[in-house]
Amino acid sequence: MSNYETREHDVLVVGAGGAGLRAAIEAASKGLRVALVCKSLLGKAHTVMAEGGIAAAMATVDSRDGWQTHFRDTMIGGKYLNNWRMAQLHAQEAPECVTELERWGAVFDRTHDGKILQRAFGGHTYKRLCHVGDRTGLELIRTLQDKGVHSGIDVYMECTISKLLKDEDRIAGAFGYFREDGRYILFRAKAVVLATGGVGKAFLVTSNSWEYTADGHALAYDAGADLIDMEFVQFHPTGMVAPTGVRGILVTEAVRGEGGILRNSLGERFMWKYLPEALKNDYAADEAEAKLWVEDTLSGKLRTDHRRPPELSTRDNVARAIYQEVKAGRGSPSGGVFLDISYQPADRVKKKLPSMYHQFKDLADVDITKVPMEVGPTMHYIMGGIRVDADTAESRVPGLFAAGECSGGMHGANRLGGNSLSDLIVFGRRAGRGAATYASNLGTLPRISDAEVNDAIDELEAPLKRSEGPNPYHVQKKMYEITGECFSIFREEGDLTKGLRLMEELKEEIKRVRGPGGKAYNPGWHLCRDLRNLAIAAEAIGRSALSRRESRGAHSRLDYTETDEKLGHENTSIFRGPDGSMHLEKTPLPEMPAELKEILKKKEVAHA
Ligand code: FUM
Repeated sequence: MSNYETREHDVLVVGAGGAGLRAAIEAASKGLRVALVCKSLLGKAHTVMAEGGIAAAMATVDSRDGWQTHFRDTMIGGKYLNNWRMAQLHAQEAPECVTELERWGAVFDRTHDGKILQRAFGGHTYKRLCHVGDRTGLELIRTLQDKGVHSGIDVYMECTISKLLKDEDRIAGAFGYFREDGRYILFRAKAVVLATGGVGKAFLVTSNSWEYTADGHALAYDAGADLIDMEFVQFHPTGMVAPTGVRGILVTEAVRGEGGILRNSLGERFMWKYLPEALKNDYAADEAEAKLWVEDTLSGKLRTDHRRPPELSTRDNVARAIYQEVKAGRGSPSGGVFLDISYQPADRVKKKLPSMYHQFKDLADVDITKVPMEVGPTMHYIMGGIRVDADTAESRVPGLFAAGECSGGMHGANRLGGNSLSDLIVFGRRAGRGAATYASNLGTLPRISDAEVNDAIDELEAPLKRSEGPNPYHVQKKMYEITGECFSIFREEGDLTKGLRLMEELKEEIKRVRGPGGKAYNPGWHLCRDLRNLAIAAEAIGRSALSRRESRGAHSRLDYTETDEKLGHENTSIFRGPDGSMHLEKTPLPEMPAELKEILKKKEVAHA
């Protein structure tokens, strides 16, 4: 039998982005022994890809803002499919969480009178995104990392968790390996918090980096938790499209928040054509009014009554619009559209969007202060994830908690930009607290059987031991073809059914993939494991999308183009059945209290 080291902790946090770090800090603050496992190096997380800001109704720029409006915007953006309690807690607690970050050393951009500056973003009624240029996620991670390393947390870097272990029905720990040399590690823990981020690597064109292989989604699913709303995949409207090697890298929404204009190859400002009828009045009526909004923004006016430009519609809408313009033959030379901020003073562009300036200069040899960028949709985020209790972040598996992108419910059918950073810190904190309370009440560490550990090792080693089998990189390419052609921005029954049939064949191949060589420095072997997780996510996306016969938020069906009121009251739940296969059921949304319903009805909300 292979050797492995064993570590014991009260709380094990898997994933070291914003949610994981915040959860670990919170659990450690209760005096518990906390482990933080990073798949990559500490500080490298998709959190940094939320560049443009963190949404919190601080009302520093626009005094009309407050948690109720933030709650309403989030529910409208999520097409009312959100877990209302999560949306409420998120809107209420985001401001204090931002203040806490500031206390811990985050240096936000400032208004002239020294308050935290807030900028506009899609779907937010008021300027609400606290930011640090276009490096907000980076500043958040830097701050939490500083705080975390001084909190007595044990950090395990370049460590992949391959399996959650249970003592009967409750969580007992996790098994994993270190990337550099393949050595194994067993974590015994009373509670586990999953904060592993998203599933971006199931798609070819994505803003996600190599770590985002649906690990938390798959670990939880295997352990008996359910996944909800997996049909809702967010394509960020603006990723780089050229050169090919950088396709998908994020171009922050802050470009549009600072006045960036989208045009097609005919020079038309096309977003006006795509505004939903019901929301048209929220946007500037024409170029002249949109120009006034930009002038206010450039002059640094704190509050403005000019309506926002059409580019600040929600992401689902803007991504579909770009896709349709390109499809209609009105795209840019590299298959995107043009995003122009070059009409603004170069100094301002460099100050507000320093990363974008360097990203385009270094990667594409494009000076965005002089010419427009070429941009197109890129898979950025999944709204679906592990079903959790809103207050404690616990899943239906006792002792298993989840926060951030791998959890579901908060964002409903579509997430507003900037709501991910706030989600991470609000629910990271709650998950850390929930796990700490659970662990403190548990007493001794649960038991883990040798047989379970041996199974985990056998599963990991199978691809190394096979003398023949498919090449994992070829299998990965096939998965990209399926997700890109069948589960992408626009869906319809024929494609979804075909995609699911192909996924069945692919799953059989994944069972036989071979990652020859040793355990040290063997990315092919790592991919064998990742493919298994990605296949769970891809199948869950396909099945959920097929079951939702309507268009809602980020889920657009060509064969069911309308939103169906009746389907707005149920989540799609995915779980592993007793036979090991994937099952789907519809579960009703909890009833919303009357006072929150009132907030949704009002156009203007009076804030205390
Ligand atoms: O565009 C952006 O800066 C991304 C923000 C987010 O996903 O919240």
